[in-house]
Amino acid sequence: STTRETAFTITPKTDAISAAERAALLANPGFGRVFSDHMAVVTYTEGKGWHTPEIMPRQPLMLDPAASVLHYAQEIFEGMKAYRAPNGDALLFRPEANARRFRKSAERMAMAQLPEELFLDAVNQLVKLDAGWIPDPEVGTLYLRPFMIATETALGVKPSAEYKFIVIACAAGDYFSKDAGPVTVWVEERTVRASRGGTGEAKCGGNYAASLTAQQEAKANGCHQVLFLDANERKWIEEMGGMNVMAVMEDGTLKTPPLGGTILPGITRDSLLTLARDKGMTVKEEPYAIEQLYADAASGRLRELFACGTAAVVTPIGTLKSAEGDHLISGQTGEVTASLRKTLCDIQFGRAEDPHGWMHRV
Ligand code: PLP
Ligand code: COI
Repeated sequence: STTRETAFTITPKTDAISAAERAALLANPGFGRVFSDHMAVVTYTEGKGWHTPEIMPRQPLMLDPAASVLHYAQEIFEGMKAYRAPNGDALLFRPEANARRFRKSAERMAMAQLPEELFLDAVNQLVKLDAGWIPDPEVGTLYLRPFMIATETALGVKPSAEYKFIVIACAAGDYFSKDAGPVTVWVEERTVRASRGGTGEAKCGGNYAASLTAQQEAKANGCHQVLFLDANERKWIEEMGGMNVMAVMEDGTLKTPPLGGTILPGITRDSLLTLARDKGMTVKEEPYAIEQLYADAASGRLRELFACGTAAVVTPIGTLKSAEGDHLISGQTGEVTASLRKTLCDIQFGRAEDPHGWMHRV
């Protein structure tokens, strides 16, 4: 990037663990438990704007118990990854798309708008400092979690006048365990994730809180994830707890629910639609009724179904389960699913040409 970088004050960690201890942690990190050494923090105060950009050793936050995030949930986040290229470079995938979505989420939650450049600077500088925490490509990536919380000490229900923007990072292997094969997904008929006019297209913590009883039910029914239906008719597939969903039809069409305000506009989703078009596939963003999907699975018109997102990458769905019973999609990873996953990952890990200019070297 040619833009001037924000001057972050950097306080390096002095008691970091040994390289050998870190290597042991990075060999099998799982997801969301092995954190890097530092965090970036930028503070917002009404009247003053964004100030005091800092990178410091990762540490607990000091929050007043009346901080508004703890009561009225003004919180938004992003999920993105740093990849280790064959030449050792650290690469980010479409970071400006995360910065833009973050700003839109802030807008929806009446939070302060973080300039996209500041978002990108914070992520870049944290990854630069903690690049040693990026696992080997065979193991995984460094998952970045930028988020913003409302920190004003005030119990009145109103937009906070103070915020903190923070970026933390964790080493990430596969979100779903590797040898599990295609995942089993619970079709949630009891609760909904988002309704029209709600916050479904914002990446706010509340959406995830609202999804957890369904996720619990999924787990209790032996499923890995949950698929939500639309709130109005309980008829149309929308998205999963933490990923978008796509179908491959018998005629080779790639089909996914349209962005109507109730689902998260996934950056993986958008990228896969582009890559599918590059491959000459027909791409349809159109509503798909769950009953039609069951019928298509039974007749063979539906060939493959997969989940996609930053954490999940591209994960095949083998079976859909609901209170009425099981619907088998496929026992193995489909050809198109595997091919799209490989094309995307080869770009992300710097192993292939990047025809759309998606990758950014840190
Ligand atoms: N849908 C939900 C609810 C998510 O949490 C995510 C993950 O971030 C996605 C979809 C996929 O979005 P992306 O591809 O930008 O990671
Ligand atoms: C992501 O993919 O970044 C998410 O936020 C989803 C969550 C399942 C980790």
